[in-house]
Parts: sequence; structure tokens; C-alpha cells
Amino acid sequence: MNIGIFDSGLGGLIITKSLIKAMPQYNFCYLGDTKYVPYGNRSKEVVYDLTKRCIDYLFNEKDCKLIIIACNTATIASLRKLQQEYLPSHYNDRRILGVIIPTLETIIERQYNKIGLFATNGTINSNVYDEELKKLNPNIKLYSQATPLLVPLIENNGDKYTTPIIKDYISNLNKDIEAIILGCTHYPHYKKQIKDEAEKLFNHKVDIISQDEIIPEKTMTYLNNHPEIDACLSKESKHIFELTDITKSYIEQATNMFQHEINIKKIDL
Ligand code: DGL
Repeated sequence: MNIGIFDSGLGGLIITKSLIKAMPQYNFCYLGDTKYVPYGNRSKEVVYDLTKRCIDYLFNEKDCKLIIIACNTATIASLRKLQQEYLPSHYNDRRILGVIIPTLETIIERQYNKIGLFATNGTINSNVYDEELKKLNPNIKLYSQATPLLVPLIENNGDKYTTPIIKDYISNLNKDIEAIILGCTHYPHYKKQIKDEAEKLFNHKVDIISQDEIIPEKTMTYLNNHPEIDACLSKESKHIFELTDITKSYIEQATNMFQHEINIKKIDL
């Protein structure tokens, strides 16, 4: 059986690339819902329905034992409901993981006191990062900033326009933050630029918490702790990439993200 990785679009390929690097023997099936990207400005109900149909596809058609919802917006809108209501009645023997708790665990492990968060409108408005962090450690201060222009910029090759926008977003954070969480699958693309601009503006070191650096290690730990799941996973190094819509620009972006050509298939969903 396979490990599924789901994202609203192409951003999750960055996490997939680091998962394949860390766990090359495992089989991965990537599904990007490019037909309906972006999810970030949609209602919670619609994001849940869109996510559920992709989860059904990965379980039923791609024989996934475990699915990682790489998309922060989809994790927030659907993970708890899928885990608590949908899995027990439909796929009792399968598992779904998200990206928020592993990210916050990393914040706790690294003992930060003040952190910034960049994410989509959907993620920021949900307050989920604040609520979950309070449960883990109420003393850590989180400064959230919606950064809705970053996904369209990445998807439209808008790198030359990003500097003033990134500077403006950073200037809204508290100047004493020790780190910034990139709470969206797309944002690792701007990792270096966000770090450089934040350090320039605040005049001290600012770490970047990027999910492509966190999820592989957390996934390996999860499989170590759940040998019964790991035992079901095939280790044939097969990597499948599927999108619900394909354009020339998507192929170019996927090639850029992966830094080499990958075989992408369009599926009807
Ligand atoms: N993948 C989404 C996330 O991580 C961002 C892109 C979108 O808005 O669909 O939140």
C-alpha cells in the first residue's frame, strides 16, 4: 500500500520532494487539486467537501494506507472531522495526518517564546494555530499575519513583485519574534527572502519554520511509533504524481519545484 500526499495545488510538491529524499524506499502518490486551487479564500464547508473527495480517491483508487494532508487550509477545514467522523465509519483501518500539530510540536521542541505566522486568510481566520498552541504551551506568543498575495504570486511567476509585499507583511509582525512559521505549502518558495528581509528589518536572527523540513522527520517518527501501519506500506520507490487539472504552466511550475521533469497525469475528479 502507498502513502498519499494531498494538497490544493502544486505547493505540496515541495514537501513531497523532501519526503522522497528522506524516505526513498516508500511509495508516494501525490494528488494536487489544481482544478479548484486556491482553497485559501473558500469557506470551510467547501474546503471540507473538496478535500473529502480527494481523500476518497487516494484511499479507493490509489490504495493509500496513510494520507498526509500537506495543505494547511485543508488540514484546518477537514482533518479533525475526517479523523473523528469519516474514517471510523468508512476507512477504519486507514490513517490521515495533517501539518499543523507537527509544526507546533517543533515550536515547543525548539523552545521559542515569540513567533510569527504567515498563512492564507482561511488559516489565519480559523485561529487554529493560536488555539492548538495555547493547548500545548499558553506562554508562547503567536503573531499571525494573513499573507494572501503570496500564493497568486508564486502561481503566476511573480517573483519580481514580491519584495515590497514580503517587507510589508513582515513589518506587521512583532519585532522581537525569534521565528516565522511558513503556514502554507507554497511559502517555502520564499524561505530565504522572508528570512533575509525579517533579519534586515528586525536587526536580529530570525529562524524560518518550514514544513518541508519538518514533515519528513515527523512522518518517520509516526511510522516508527506505528509499526502496524509501516508493515502495510510498500517499499518499491514508486512515485506517482496526479493533478485534477493540467496546464503547460502547471507542468513548468512542477518541474521548477522538483528541479527536474516529473511524469504528471491528469485525473477526472
Ligand atoms: N495549500 C494551501 C495551504 O497550505 C495554500 C494554497 C491555497 O490557497 O490553496 O494553505
